Amino acid sequence: MSASPLLAPPDARMLFDRMRNRNIMVIGDAMVDEWIWGTVTRISPEAPVPVVSVDDHSFTLGGAGNVANNLRALGASVQLVGTVGHDELSERIGSLLDAIGVRRDGILVVDDRPTTRKTRIVAHSQQVVRADWESTAPISSADGERVTQFVRAHARDADAVVISDYGKGLISRDVVEAALGAPLVVVDPKPQNMALFEGVSCVAPNMHEAEIATGIRVSDDASLERAARSLLERLRCRYVVLTRGERGMALFSADGVQLHVPAVARTVYDVSGAGDTAVAVLTLAFAAGATPELALQLANFAAGAVVEKLGTATASADEILALIDHGFQTG
Ligand SMILES: Nc1ncnc2c1ncn2[C@@H]1O[C@H](COP(=O)(O)OP(=O)(O)OP(=O)(O)O)[C@@H](O)[C@H]1O
Ligand SMILES: [Mg+2]
Repeated sequence: MSASPLLAPPDARMLFDRMRNRNIMVIGDAMVDEWIWGTVTRISPEAPVPVVSVDDHSFTLGGAGNVANNLRALGASVQLVGTVGHDELSERIGSLLDAIGVRRDGILVVDDRPTTRKTRIVAHSQQVVRADWESTAPISSADGERVTQFVRAHARDADAVVISDYGKGLISRDVVEAALGAPLVVVDPKPQNMALFEGVSCVAPNMHEAEIATGIRVSDDASLERAARSLLERLRCRYVVLTRGERGMALFSADGVQLHVPAVARTVYDVSGAGDTAVAVLTLAFAAGATPELALQLANFAAGAVVEKLGTATASADEILALIDHGFQTG
């Protein structure tokens, strides 16, 4: 185990400069998060459930869309590849992506499934219920072929590909092989799909996903390393990054390097989407030529910056730098 050289603010600034305008393709399950905000005034006469009087209604990008959003927040040029349904929500995704300047010529409209939507009803800052509109079945082989062809034609123009797998049926071995035409492929995997990712540059599961994929229960540093090495060997990839929630992150490389960074958030408000931020920043840092030490630390600072915010969020270079500065002053 080695202590990583601390990420100094000038190094981070230099990396942010190099990250700008990198061309990143995000392949994954794009979603719309729908938010219905209100107040509970009474119990329904129809059933013993609260009646929420709606004050506000909004839509945000989720899943692979949130990864794209995090890449844009750091100035990358981003193209999203995936599917949407033949429904009004697909227009919503389109306008959300247009608003942040993500290219969407790789988003295909498919007939036999809806645009993935997660509707949350929130009353008095508490989630009352969530409704998921989605299909998790594999997309049809004809649609899969269209996605694969698009990736095959465009991945080689990207500086890196991120595969953001939320298990909604988009990712297949064919798509992964097409993505391997890019110089760098980083994956946020679902454990049941792990075998599809053989040959990518880096996989970045959370602990739970790593445990399921390897069958190794992680309880200490030794079992953590065993799980990571098992993934490195099985997938023949260069790096495995394990995101460990409040315990930070660890990186293991095929050539024996092992790095650990502790979590850095000052106050934790909302951890949702932190994994999206982590994989986005990790990829962009590698694409900008960062060493594994610096890429891991930058991703960890960025994830720390978003857990300090409510909702799935993005971190700007200034927000990440503020956290790095803070670490330098107190560490
Ligand atoms: N409670 C926390 N305190 C501090 N940092 C955190 C916390 N939770 C997450 N993080 C930061 O976010 C990173 C990613 O979080 P985590 O390992 O939970 O990923 P994840 O489960 O894939 O997240 P999600 O799927 O909700 O986006 C961590 O490695 C860490 O840097
Ligand atoms: Mg995750």
